[in-house]
Amino acid sequence: MNGRPRQRDGAASLTHVLDHVTAVRYVTPLREGGSMPGVVEGADLGTYVVKFRGAGQGLKVLVAEVVVGELARRLGLPVPRLVTIDLPSAMARYEADQEVQDLLNASPGTNLGVDLLPGALGYDGSRPPDADLASRVLWLDAFTANVDRTWSNPNLLTWHRQTWLIDHGAALYFHHSWPSRAPDPQRFADQPFRVGSDDHVLGGVASDLTGAHADLAPLVTTDLVRDVLDQVPEEWFETTDHLPDAPAVRTAYRDHLLARVRTPHVWLPGGAA
Ligand SMILES: Nc1ncnc2c1ncn2[C@@H]1O[C@H](COP(=O)(O)OP(=O)(O)O)[C@@H](O)[C@H]1O
Ligand SMILES: [Mg+2]
Repeated sequence: MNGRPRQRDGAASLTHVLDHVTAVRYVTPLREGGSMPGVVEGADLGTYVVKFRGAGQGLKVLVAEVVVGELARRLGLPVPRLVTIDLPSAMARYEADQEVQDLLNASPGTNLGVDLLPGALGYDGSRPPDADLASRVLWLDAFTANVDRTWSNPNLLTWHRQTWLIDHGAALYFHHSWPSRAPDPQRFADQPFRVGSDDHVLGGVASDLTGAHADLAPLVTTDLVRDVLDQVPEEWFETTDHLPDAPAVRTAYRDHLLARVRTPHVWLPGGAA
């Protein structure tokens, strides 16, 4: 099933979408995470950290996870494999914990699965990535307005001597205004990055943000962004008066990302040409 190509909307080109897995067993909740993700076994024998569609944060958080995670992957940053995962309704019945049972019952259909990195350690600064990787991660966070990679919430794992990026649900927060306001890509492009280099968990390691921008920004093309957005299950896109269907929502994300990549002088820490 790996990289299974699927034809979309009768388009001539083939698009790779996330692998789809059926859950077979709920193993344990990860209570340190704010959204209470859970460890789940898949029918493919994989083990996944599942971000549930029924968690309080809603579907937009899952969209941000896929858009930023898959963007990061295409830019060469280490991100655990993402899948979509279905929970059979029977699974909730065998769950003794009421809070978990409620979450499973609220999450029928497609959820997000993140490949579990067994034995991974939460990032504590004792094994920092090299300055080049740190600069690229900080660039990604500034570009996607990810406010959630600070010392209080590093959202980095150390696994096999490598730094891995997780939890991009807080990025792209512009979409939370969509129910009440028309999408405005330029507004996003004009917004500085709110996390200072002292607060960002890699602020002390990153050294060359201008170089990271010079390397990565040219890769953020219309085609690459379209490919990233094609990974998001259509049913996660919430429509509004201004965004009447999934293609409109997808286009709005594309326009926001393409507008912002052109304004590094606004959002890149230290500024950039
Ligand atoms: N792929 C993974 N492999 C191993 N542990 C993970 C993985 N993803 C998340 N975790 C663990 O679960 C915690 C919560 O996950 P996270 O994605 O940060 O969720 P939340 O949105 O609730 O903060 C992480 O801090 C980490 O300890
Ligand atoms: Mg987290």
